[in-house]
Amino acid sequence: MELTKEQEREIERAVAILESGGIVAFPTETVYGLGADADNEAAVGKVFAAKQRPTWHPLIVHLPDAESISWWADPMPPAAQLLAEKFWPGPLTMVVPRAERCGSWVTGGQRSVGLRCPSHPLGHALFEAFSGPRHRGIVGPSANSFGRISPTTAEHVLHDLGVKPNGKVDMILDGGPCTVGVESTIINLASDEPELLRYGAVTREMLEEALGRPVVNPKPSSPKVSGQLKSHYAPVTPVTLADEDAIPEIAASLAPETCAVLAPESILGRCPANAVFRLQSAESEPEYAARLYANLHALDEAGTSHILIARPPKGSLWNAVNDRLSRASAPKPAASGQH
Ligand code: TXA
Ligand code: MG
Repeated sequence: MELTKEQEREIERAVAILESGGIVAFPTETVYGLGADADNEAAVGKVFAAKQRPTWHPLIVHLPDAESISWWADPMPPAAQLLAEKFWPGPLTMVVPRAERCGSWVTGGQRSVGLRCPSHPLGHALFEAFSGPRHRGIVGPSANSFGRISPTTAEHVLHDLGVKPNGKVDMILDGGPCTVGVESTIINLASDEPELLRYGAVTREMLEEALGRPVVNPKPSSPKVSGQLKSHYAPVTPVTLADEDAIPEIAASLAPETCAVLAPESILGRCPANAVFRLQSAESEPEYAARLYANLHALDEAGTSHILIARPPKGSLWNAVNDRLSRASAPKPAASGQH
């Protein structure tokens, strides 16, 4: 994509901030990331601090191209090259054995590292401009406070983390709304068998077809990802996920308390008056996913006592959406509460 002069200046400013150890929120096709120079331990520390994320949670490193993998992976699994050719740039993160160069501050002490090459034109331009002869990478967890809803617009980042001097990040690179809308698929290529660590837009079937072998579920001994925590991606308002036909009745049983509802139009029409905020859900998976987090943000901000969500269809294509919804509706751990 041709960048505008204005965007080129923004990229230059972002690179300068990253080089001086600052943190920059950047757009990807999945969600916004919170970036720092992966080689700079102090800068990476600022990312953990801004998110209030436990430092034992490993971060992923964003790269501009497949050629950079060999600078970060050692040994480089042949499957990584194959999958990069097929799915990069795109919503796939690969966990590979980490190279010497990759600091333990990135991986939370693990011997593997997650690598990703997003396709968003502005994000991608940033990774390219920053990379240089040493193939530098940018760490990038989702740009939200730990445990909260992931951001799919620059405004989400602004509201949650904010920009200095009053907020936490040095700059937000605004690339518009994210088109995929849920975090990347994560495949573990650092164990004997490829494992699917997180559902995303690249499905298990797509990975199996590319690799010509099964992609299994993680074993209990496999490294945990924060997206595997039961309660995650969660609104503050309690969320109930239910079959669509049950939604009007559940809403009625909550009266006089109010609720915000995400459901197909026909169901919204049958909801009682205490359903004071109503959002129509998309029928196709890509559209549903693209709007998922913006919808969760809106439902949460409606200020009702409850959120009711009609369960979307099942099936492989819907795994990423159903996975995020089940975590958004999971009971929150009582002791630690919201992070
Ligand atoms: O779509 C995405 O992947 C977004 C955008 C910004 O690129 N990033 C993202 O980052 O979702 P984060 O940190 O929120 O999720 C990455 C997940 C974490 O749950 C982390 O635990 C896991 O990847 N992860 C990172 N390195 C790992 C490793 N070496 N082994 C296992 N899991 C790892
Ligand atoms: Mg996250």
